[in-house]
Amino acid sequence: MPVVIAHVSDIHIDSEPRAAERARRVFDHLDALPADLDLVVLTGDIADHGLDAEYAGAREAAATRHPLLICPGNHDDREAFRRTLLGVPPSTEPVDQVYRTDRFVLALCDSSIPGQDDGYLADTTLRWLAAELDATPDDVPVLIGFHHPPVELNAPFVDRIRQFGEDRLAGVVARRPNVVAFLAGHAHTAAATRFAGLPLLVAPGVVSTIPLPWEGDRPVHLDQPPSLAFHVIDDRHRVTTHYRVVV
Ligand SMILES: [Fe+2]
Ligand SMILES: [Fe+2]
Repeated sequence: MPVVIAHVSDIHIDSEPRAAERARRVFDHLDALPADLDLVVLTGDIADHGLDAEYAGAREAAATRHPLLICPGNHDDREAFRRTLLGVPPSTEPVDQVYRTDRFVLALCDSSIPGQDDGYLADTTLRWLAAELDATPDDVPVLIGFHHPPVELNAPFVDRIRQFGEDRLAGVVARRPNVVAFLAGHAHTAAATRFAGLPLLVAPGVVSTIPLPWEGDRPVHLDQPPSLAFHVIDDRHRVTTHYRVVV
């Protein structure tokens, strides 16, 4: 069986029921699958304003029977994220986490910058990532996830606040051939491109969709249905992504 990872992003839980209902619809869809997923990854913008009450709502909206790994985005607050979402002692340090199995590794990096909308991987995060890669056997495929895409996506609103300093990340993955893909959110549009010679797979936004320049000048679409990505890693470590709308 291949590795199957569900990728959900940008649930933006707030005090209104709309965002929580859309997130719950996605996680209910995943929980109703007949198969067990290897992992669900949620790539940031969990709480719309980084509030503890929003993280309490997110715990319910994103509860799942599958293994789950969550990183912060620009809307999140590291202290409240740790305290209320993860249930660990609060700190303002980057929330870097790794999920290890014999079949794959997912290193989930915190690309947020407290108080800013753009992204950057701190030197401590890159050193942590390099150590995690060094600790992984050469025959185990590695996915690297974060909130902010490290390249432009031809989506002007998001491109202005993408992840910068990306050459440092490219340097970390160079000569580490078991890295198979990068995963990101933040763009609120399902997208696939390339970074550092590898696939960069962007999950759609659950809460909303950001239109592209050729789709008109509305700032955001609220009426499109929530959706998600399934990333599949086969025996040869090739990654295939399926995007799925949840009606
Ligand atoms: Fe977002
Ligand atoms: Fe974001």
